[in-house]
Amino acid sequence: MNYLIGIDVGTSATKTVLFEEGGKVVVSASWEYPLYQPQNGWAEQRPEDWREAVLKTLSKVVKESGVLKEDIKGIGISGQMHGLVMLDGDNEVIRPSIIWCDQRTGEEVEDMQKIMPRKRWIEITANPPLTGWTAAKILWVRKHEPEHYKSCRHILLPKDYIRYILTGVYATEVSDASGMQLLDVAKRCWSEEVLHKLDIDPDLLGTVYESCEVTGTLLPEIAAQTGLSAGTKVVGGAGDNAAAAVGTGVVRDGTAFTTIGTSGVVFAHSSQITIDPRGRVHTCCCAVPGAWHVMGVTQGAGLSLKWFKDNFCQDYIEEAEKQGIDVYDLINRDVALVKAGSDKLLYLPYLMGERTPHLDPDCRGVFFGLSAIHTKAHMLRAVMEGVSFSLSDCNDILREMGIEVGEMMACGGGGKSPVWRQMLADMYDCEVKTVEQTEGPALGVAILAGVGCGIYESVEAACDAMISKDKSTGPDRGQAELYKKYHSIYKKLYEDLKDSYKQLASL
Ligand code: XUL
Repeated sequence: MNYLIGIDVGTSATKTVLFEEGGKVVVSASWEYPLYQPQNGWAEQRPEDWREAVLKTLSKVVKESGVLKEDIKGIGISGQMHGLVMLDGDNEVIRPSIIWCDQRTGEEVEDMQKIMPRKRWIEITANPPLTGWTAAKILWVRKHEPEHYKSCRHILLPKDYIRYILTGVYATEVSDASGMQLLDVAKRCWSEEVLHKLDIDPDLLGTVYESCEVTGTLLPEIAAQTGLSAGTKVVGGAGDNAAAAVGTGVVRDGTAFTTIGTSGVVFAHSSQITIDPRGRVHTCCCAVPGAWHVMGVTQGAGLSLKWFKDNFCQDYIEEAEKQGIDVYDLINRDVALVKAGSDKLLYLPYLMGERTPHLDPDCRGVFFGLSAIHTKAHMLRAVMEGVSFSLSDCNDILREMGIEVGEMMACGGGGKSPVWRQMLADMYDCEVKTVEQTEGPALGVAILAGVGCGIYESVEAACDAMISKDKSTGPDRGQAELYKKYHSIYKKLYEDLKDSYKQLASL
């Protein structure tokens, strides 16, 4: 039997999974690392932590699986998008990675619009200049840390730094490269015009591949360290959202998914390039060759719930430890007992600013309507509902753009929660489905590896063979109507607070 490995370099942890070629999980391992927030709105991680997590989890799955190394045919890598990794001439990491949810680049985004009209940015990169995307981060380092920029010889995305560690190759692939704002998204190659305008040397960037193409093979020293064969193929892989799409079978028009991980994303496949002229949702190349996707992003989705749990739920954490269960199962149990609408409590999930629909790095989180009636369970439910309202904003824009979604899948940690899926079904007013395979991005890139190694003839054929539908949650009419009323207050709150957010940011 052939085996495939998928690696997902996430924000809270790296997850590495060894699959049978049919998609069944053999062994899975994960390794957590910290997120550093040196200032309000900043977010950094250490690429060295990702490297350690990948090497540890790879060695663990290979060892525990007992599978012959010759039978492991390929590896796919997925990861958080947009993070900036800079290497010097000795291939050492120059500074911590400024990651996707960092919001320090407001000024650089303004500079980018002066360098080239917003309209031209959208024509080439399919998106307006965005604070969280890589180009603005590069400009920030060049302006604020010129010595770092001067010593930089390679610019890589998080998962592409891991590719370099595994294979020694400097490369990327179209889905993740789309989120750098340096790619001509329609033509699927680096944009000479953008690189010229920003005065970025193209030699700093890796070679661009399609997501299922083989980009290199394992270095002998890495093979020895992890128990794999030197020569094991590493394919392009994909940014975590494009990878989750493959892992949930969202590879044809009419299909979409919502993921609730650290970020939240509503993602629709599109065989034609479709762009929101207002730039509220992103258009990127997807992992299926010759196709694209449109996605709306909630910056603080699972991040909001984790923040609340870590800071205010020590009792839940201790109880879960005592019972030997997942703390989120306890949270879900209590949230399910609170009525829809959380007894008139609303939460705005803008802990790290917001992308869709506001593109506002300065907005911040809010609980609105707190009363002495409210308990911790109300606040937890309000957090989950607030995240769902934000995802619903994303879904509304896809509908407004005329993107027909016949099938909405749910995935990510939050997608496993029946109560969260019910909120999505009520607010979207449609069925929300899951797939049996819950490995999302790791499975997605293992599938891409299967295609790259010739086990499957196309991404679509691999998904048909490897992915099967599971549960379906339909809307509750009464709750759907109620949520419409809450959603209109939720939307108005941002408009009412917009100026105050700017004032707060300027203090
Ligand atoms: C997408 C985005 C996030 C990250 C983190 O644009 O920034 O979804 O990929 O997972």
